[in-house]
Amino acid sequence: MARILLIVGGGIAAYKASELIRLFRKAGHAVTPVLTAGGAHFVTPMTLAALAESPVYTSLWDLKDESEMGHIQLSRAADIVLVCPATADLLAKMAAGVADDLATTLLLATDKPVVVAPAMNVRMWLHPATQRNVARLKADGVTVMDPDDGAMACGEFGPGRLPEPEDIFQQVVALVSVRPELVEGLSLATGSLALAGHHILITAGPTHEPIDPVRVIANRSSGKQGFAIAAAAANAGARVTLIAGPVALPTPGGVARIDVETAEQMAAAVEAALPADVAILVAAVADWKVAPSPVKLKKSAGPPALTFTANPDILATLAARPQRPRLLIGFAAETENLVANATAKRTAKGADWIVANDVSGDVMGGSHNQVHLITAAGDEAWEAGTKDAVAARLIDRIIQELA
Ligand code: C5P
Repeated sequence: MARILLIVGGGIAAYKASELIRLFRKAGHAVTPVLTAGGAHFVTPMTLAALAESPVYTSLWDLKDESEMGHIQLSRAADIVLVCPATADLLAKMAAGVADDLATTLLLATDKPVVVAPAMNVRMWLHPATQRNVARLKADGVTVMDPDDGAMACGEFGPGRLPEPEDIFQQVVALVSVRPELVEGLSLATGSLALAGHHILITAGPTHEPIDPVRVIANRSSGKQGFAIAAAAANAGARVTLIAGPVALPTPGGVARIDVETAEQMAAAVEAALPADVAILVAAVADWKVAPSPVKLKKSAGPPALTFTANPDILATLAARPQRPRLLIGFAAETENLVANATAKRTAKGADWIVANDVSGDVMGGSHNQVHLITAAGDEAWEAGTKDAVAARLIDRIIQELA
């Protein structure tokens, strides 16, 4: 259940805020509407209050308890702030940091992710001033949805229509469903949307190499570390493509997942997902494969002699490509000489960083991890923590590196 602060701006699309409230309520989320003076010309507070089953706030001065900083509390009590519809005027005020009514004051006071769903005349949307404001807001970490294209209420045609309520709903839910636990001591909160505009490609889990239609060669990778990294990257606002081997894990919110089985399928999916700004190859890819039998091998024929051939090395191949991601990160699972082996792997494979973990214990499949980060500058031992904590720390380092 998420708590959504919904700011309804003044435009003909304001009536669609009612439909959105209905979608959120049906999915069990709580909505607190804030209606601007302009918005009140298009929908009534009564409509919003009835659908949201919540009081509707309209004025800075009707928040009774200013001794308790009513507007600050209102903006902090939410998990996310959604502006829908966002008019050109609201976007301009947000970009400039104007706080001259309740809605804009809340937007300036909030410490939560902000999503805006713009709706306006096509000329207003395409005007350089609006585009400048949108670029400013994106740089500030606000998620600005693209308006839809089509016929407008004013009779013109083009981009500027409010995105479909269902799409706005999906965008908000994706942003609030990814909240890996916060890790103490991080310089940047991963919830800051600092990776907005970046594409991060992640591989996770094992691969399965078929022997025959029913048997596979597998490994013990659970995919938990890679999935945790995908969740943390999405939480920081990145566009995340997660290429997953066979694992039984739910897809983190806001992550585009591609399921594969074999190393070759994973290699092809990685190629297809390029270009990426950052690639984090966490998957425990099978080094070898066999030529699978088209029919089930019979036990009566005795133990088969399996002949192995090498699988493509996805990390090394990516490092050598012209489309090499700006930051290429590999993992190294070792049972001995952890740092020495991982350091050699960094240069041998052409990765920028290697995250090295000792897998002689119960790391594979478990929820905890202890890693070393190997960079060109040397080796850093990170304190042991949950896989979510390791993921948040890694994403934090990536944010610093890209800054
Ligand atoms: O050589 P090794 O398997 O120890 O290297 C581990 C790193 O290389 C991991 O980042 C893993 O995802 C990647 N890898 C790969 N393709 C392979 C084997 C490993 O991308 N065929």
